Amino acid sequence: MKAWIVEEQKPIEEKPMKLVEIPTPEPGPGEIRIKVSYCGICRTDLHIAEGDIPLHKKPVIPGHEIVGIVDKIGKGVTKFKPGDKAGVTWLYSTCGKCKYCMRGEENYCPEIKRTGWDVDGGYAEYFIAKEDFAFNLNEMRLKDEDLAPLMCPGVSGYFAFKLAGVGEGGKLGLIGFGPTAYYVLHVAKSMNIDVYVSTRSEEHKRIAWSNGAAWVGNIATEKMPEKMDSIIFFPPAGKLVEKALENLDVSGTLVLAAVSMTPIEIRDYTANLWGKNIKTLYQVRRDYGKEFLEIANRLNLTIEKEIVRFEEVQEAMIRMKKGEIKGLVAVVKM
Ligand SMILES: NC(=O)c1ccc[n+]([C@@H]2O[C@H](COP(=O)([O-])OP(=O)(O)OC[C@H]3O[C@@H](n4cnc5c(N)ncnc54)[C@H](OP(=O)(O)O)[C@@H]3O)[C@@H](O)[C@H]2O)c1
Ligand SMILES: [Zn+2]
Ligand SMILES: [Zn+2]
Repeated sequence: MKAWIVEEQKPIEEKPMKLVEIPTPEPGPGEIRIKVSYCGICRTDLHIAEGDIPLHKKPVIPGHEIVGIVDKIGKGVTKFKPGDKAGVTWLYSTCGKCKYCMRGEENYCPEIKRTGWDVDGGYAEYFIAKEDFAFNLNEMRLKDEDLAPLMCPGVSGYFAFKLAGVGEGGKLGLIGFGPTAYYVLHVAKSMNIDVYVSTRSEEHKRIAWSNGAAWVGNIATEKMPEKMDSIIFFPPAGKLVEKALENLDVSGTLVLAAVSMTPIEIRDYTANLWGKNIKTLYQVRRDYGKEFLEIANRLNLTIEKEIVRFEEVQEAMIRMKKGEIKGLVAVVKM
């Protein structure tokens, strides 16, 4: 099969990804083989290609927003049959036995394996998943190209939203308006929560307004008109964290969603942090993933996206780095 691999990490402009022909993998016990139809491109793939996070497997096929049709099942598989539609997220597998797994916090499992990082991912014609960690998408009415970005920005955004803990009638701030923030906006609005968006980009401002934000501005240069009950913070820019806290009400929660961040400095503890809570988003969980997919199906959550041909994955990642993707996200069509 054809697959994109990363063997040597370097800046994306120097083309660390190689398109190769490799043997088509076979599903083992408890595994399913998915013929990939679409795979969303995530900023984390860029981090993996460029070396912001180390390779855990060499070479590795990146890609963790996978949707396709099951074409072969391994021994003992009961949850899927050939022909089913399946989706896979960043969460490839966990141990199921540790204290975190036992109490439902599998995102903290020390044995966690992540799709497209610890194991091969979805920038390939076929992908092997653990049946227990794949979502059955047969009942979803969205098209595959809209299902793929649900698998990372959607599911992670929903987890961040749960951590934010805003109730009906509350006010939620979103800092940075990428695809993850977009899904949070829609879930929050469906629960009668007013959403205040801070973004630097004119294109993102337009999309935030047209999707029902209560306020759109940029906290780098202006204050939100009200104090927020919670704020979810997406940029990897630590220097903006105190600005976000300035807009957060006491007793409120700031959720930091990024996987890496420049140093955070809080100069005025008493005014800006005292009485407030900070949490971080760490990996994803299946239970929230399932909950989110039901909501996305009910809301028919599509997204403004650019469809990219399989041969163009690397070019699209170069453009993603420059902020030149049309809409909010790029999705690869196999
Ligand atoms: N913790 C986890 O397990 C997990 C899982 C999935 C995703 N994530 C994280 O969630 C975050 C959001 O992901 P996403 O898919 O929506 O991607 P994204 O496009 O990278 O979202 C981040 C947004 O932050 C803003 N931003 C970026 N750099 C900035 C800077 N230097 N200064 C100010 N603003 C900046 C941009 O918004 P504007 O252009 O609108 O200003 C950008 O769209 C990412 O950081 C990703 O790593 C974490
Ligand atoms: Zn991702
Ligand atoms: Zn575990």
